[in-house]
Amino acid sequence: RTTAVILAGGTGQRVGLSIPKQLLKIAGKAVIEHTLTTFENAESIDDVIVLMAPGYVPDIEKIVAKAGFTKVKRIIEGGSTRNETTERAISALGEGLAEGEDRNVLFHDAVRPLLSQRVIDDCVIALERYQAVDVAIPSADTIIVTRTHGEDGEFITEIPDRSRLRRGQTPQAFKLSTIRRAYEVAAGDPNFQATDDCSVVLKYLPDVPIHVVAGDEYNMKVTQPVDVFIADKLFQLASTAAPEQVSEEAYRELLTGKTVVIFGG
Ligand code: CTP
Repeated sequence: RTTAVILAGGTGQRVGLSIPKQLLKIAGKAVIEHTLTTFENAESIDDVIVLMAPGYVPDIEKIVAKAGFTKVKRIIEGGSTRNETTERAISALGEGLAEGEDRNVLFHDAVRPLLSQRVIDDCVIALERYQAVDVAIPSADTIIVTRTHGEDGEFITEIPDRSRLRRGQTPQAFKLSTIRRAYEVAAGDPNFQATDDCSVVLKYLPDVPIHVVAGDEYNMKVTQPVDVFIADKLFQLASTAAPEQVSEEAYRELLTGKTVVIFGG
């Protein structure tokens, strides 16, 4: 049994609009409706729970009712950090579980509306062998590590080898028993701090291997104001599968100003 947990407990401070970014309309639908549609259509997903920003539960209930999503079984309020939201999901899922029973859980950011079925399937397949799975893509940018020295600002301390660096996306997929155990151990650490769920497993269950499956470039996170426009453009492309190559014809059209769509072929 596989459950998708949609993390929508944030308020989108960096986008900076009056409503949380998961409720913004992009390409005719709220961002979270695109996300839920993907999971509703995923054969490997049995049910879905949504953790929504406090105060916005009625908005998501309306979206779910109108779209007729049958897999969405629960909508509850998120916590004040992303990890708190995850913890609430873990305890909600634990309630319905019999002694010794386990299940697969996929935690996904509500604000990654361009997730592909291929990535979902790869996560579920990987859970047949591994207890923890991350989704990542290579980094095009060089990543630098810095330290801040007071008023003098930031300085580089390290430039890791780019060929080994990846950008983590979601879903992050686990056996429920594993992610629950990781958070139980983390609860004993007064300095607990994380921005994702794989890092909780990495730190508190160091013996559990975390397998990495390939994400895709489309699976962006709407984070900054410009991302709203980028996501809108990506939705204009017919397919959400990452293009293997840009066709020469489409590229020539771009150069002559005929079209803004450069992918395809
Ligand atoms: N999230 C969550 N609960 C929180 C904070 C974040 O479920 N307390 C979710 C967000 O709704 C989003 C995902 O985690 O789907 C990724 O987080 P992020 O992009 O940081 O979202 P926000 O916290 O909304 O954005 P910001 O940091 O700009 O306020």
